Amino acid sequence: MTQPTKVAVLISGRGSNMEALLRAAQDPACPFEIALVLANKPEAGGLATAEAAGIEALCVDQRAFGKDREAHERAIDAALKARGIQVIALAGYMRILTPFLVDAWEGRMLNIHPSLLPAYPGLDTHGRALNAGEVEAGCTVHLVTAGVDEGPILGQARVPILPGDTEALLAQRVLQQEHRLYAATLAEFVRGL
Ligand code: GRF
Repeated sequence: MTQPTKVAVLISGRGSNMEALLRAAQDPACPFEIALVLANKPEAGGLATAEAAGIEALCVDQRAFGKDREAHERAIDAALKARGIQVIALAGYMRILTPFLVDAWEGRMLNIHPSLLPAYPGLDTHGRALNAGEVEAGCTVHLVTAGVDEGPILGQARVPILPGDTEALLAQRVLQQEHRLYAATLAEFVRGL
């Protein structure tokens, strides 16, 4: 059997999508392994989750690099290379990337976004969808390119907006689909490499 593809998950917060990827990778038939969880700030809750699961959890603290985002990314890139990482999965990584990391990982860096892209890129997706009277929301896994939340779409899941929905209720229902979609789409992606 071929070796599973080595994936690093980049997070900034609680890391529930990261956890979903970890769970998926426990299946012996899964074509990827989570070889590293990396955060840009030490308070990212997902670091402890990863550690508890026996996965290397590394913080490359952005504060050490001041405003030099590229220097921060060069440190991240070096950590990824040192571990033989083949694919990056951004999962709630809340820092805009510079062309350095985007170019270095072109075609090998995925992101998940909680909307049906190209609709509602950026922040506050659920609030904006509700305010606009949308009847449907969802989530998207896409390849990362220079534009924020742009790049070729690899998979989407649709979620109906229900009467009485609040941002929190909708976010919760979309998040359940994110977990399923990200694991399935990443598996399909690495099988095609
Ligand atoms: C998710 O909604 C993801 O789509 C967005 O940020 C959120 C991260 O949540 N990019 P979590 O840290 O994976 O729980």
